[in-house]
Amino acid sequence: MPFNALLATRSDQRAITTRVVSFEESQLMPGEVTVAVEWSSVSYRDALAITGAAPLIKTFPLIPGIDLAGTVEASLDARFERGDKVVLNGWALGQTHHGGYAQRARVSADWLLKLPASISTRDAMAIGTAGYTAMLSVLALEHGGLTPERGDVLVTGASGGVGSSAVSILSKLGYRVIASTGRQEQHSRLRVLGATEIIGRNIQSGEARSIGAARWMGAVDTVGSKTLAGILAQTGYGGVVAACGVVQGADLPASVLPFMQRAVTLIGIDSVNAPRAIRSRAWERLATDLDRATLAPVINEIGLADVPSTASAILQGKMRGRTIVNVNSGLRAVDVRQRRICGSADAMPPSPVGDVEDAVVSTGGSRPEISDPFGLSTGGFVAQLIRHQSPHLAPLCFSAGIDLLDISDPSASRGVF
Ligand SMILES: NC(=O)c1ccc[n+]([C@@H]2O[C@H](COP(=O)([O-])OP(=O)(O)OC[C@H]3O[C@@H](n4cnc5c(N)ncnc54)[C@H](OP(=O)(O)O)[C@@H]3O)[C@@H](O)[C@H]2O)c1
Repeated sequence: MPFNALLATRSDQRAITTRVVSFEESQLMPGEVTVAVEWSSVSYRDALAITGAAPLIKTFPLIPGIDLAGTVEASLDARFERGDKVVLNGWALGQTHHGGYAQRARVSADWLLKLPASISTRDAMAIGTAGYTAMLSVLALEHGGLTPERGDVLVTGASGGVGSSAVSILSKLGYRVIASTGRQEQHSRLRVLGATEIIGRNIQSGEARSIGAARWMGAVDTVGSKTLAGILAQTGYGGVVAACGVVQGADLPASVLPFMQRAVTLIGIDSVNAPRAIRSRAWERLATDLDRATLAPVINEIGLADVPSTASAILQGKMRGRTIVNVNSGLRAVDVRQRRICGSADAMPPSPVGDVEDAVVSTGGSRPEISDPFGLSTGGFVAQLIRHQSPHLAPLCFSAGIDLLDISDPSASRGVF
């Protein structure tokens, strides 16, 4: 049975190209468990992989996507049975093994975890590798002896996926959270997530390069480089720092004095190869200690064909919050008179619902003109309406001679292509 997948290929010039293709189960790699994938996500790491900005995809052609959530279809391993809701973050997924940007995956049973009952597959990807990494960081702080009573905790890159999840978790656990962000416009959101104090990105300034006045007892650092050095220098006696990211750089121009004079502990976080017991613990804790309602307003939902443009937007710093991928979504707008595809709900960048509705109203109310309000083709405009399930969709399609085709059924899409 064929299914839709986003496939990454590499040219002789080593440029990476990705496109949605019809894939066969026989083309999947070996593994004990076959999963009907429902959701994946696009994280910073995915963005690095898909664009080729970092050489994370090791074999081509490959279905990228470093995480997935779905339902077990078949299992040769006694730990899983058909119908189990499962999640997979990391391991070889999307690097050497076909990943989450497809309607099917076949994977090692050792990589999979059953989801806690209270976390849906969509929730799991809204949490994603970012939320899971944030929880691994919190577990590391606890392992190092940090408690809310011991003092404040700092989160850097606070408006990002890992950072915002860490702010939310730590606040729910009773910590006084200091959020470090470079974005003024994110301050109110960070307060909603639970930040008590908000500071800028410039943590390494002044005396902080070697050792400075203690400002916090713990930190989740997604930034690395001079920022991490500054964090260590300003961590109080016996404090704990979890290092999980490198958005500023992978270097660490730091002094050893925080370790020798303040007994500071620096703990590295690895979400990719973390042992199964720790992963399992992290997902159990995410079920209880992450307020998913606070993350909900910052979830962007896209389809498979949107993944490449979203990855570029992430690397350009243009995306906010979490981006989840509905691998089964997909409607194409087909011009029935010319028998050609003229737009896709998957092919357009996300846009706020308000924009689309406003444009429809301004171009003709309930029977809008077939115009080009966004500089898109008619099909592109229709695709925006599909995405947002606009009530204006039916009359617009009718008057434009446009039909809609469900590409989640690959046999249907083959007929048109
Ligand atoms: N260790 C692991 O296993 C693991 C797992 C997942 C992710 N990561 C890493 O964690 C980091 C964050 O991932 P993410 O998914 O949260 O990324 P993200 O959503 O893109 O967030 C990164 C945040 O970093 C801040 N930032 C960006 N450029 C910066 C700069 N030059 N200096 C200081 N801050 C900057 C921004 O926050 P503000 O605007 O709020 O400052 C941005 O939102 C990445 O390096 C990623 O590779 C590691």
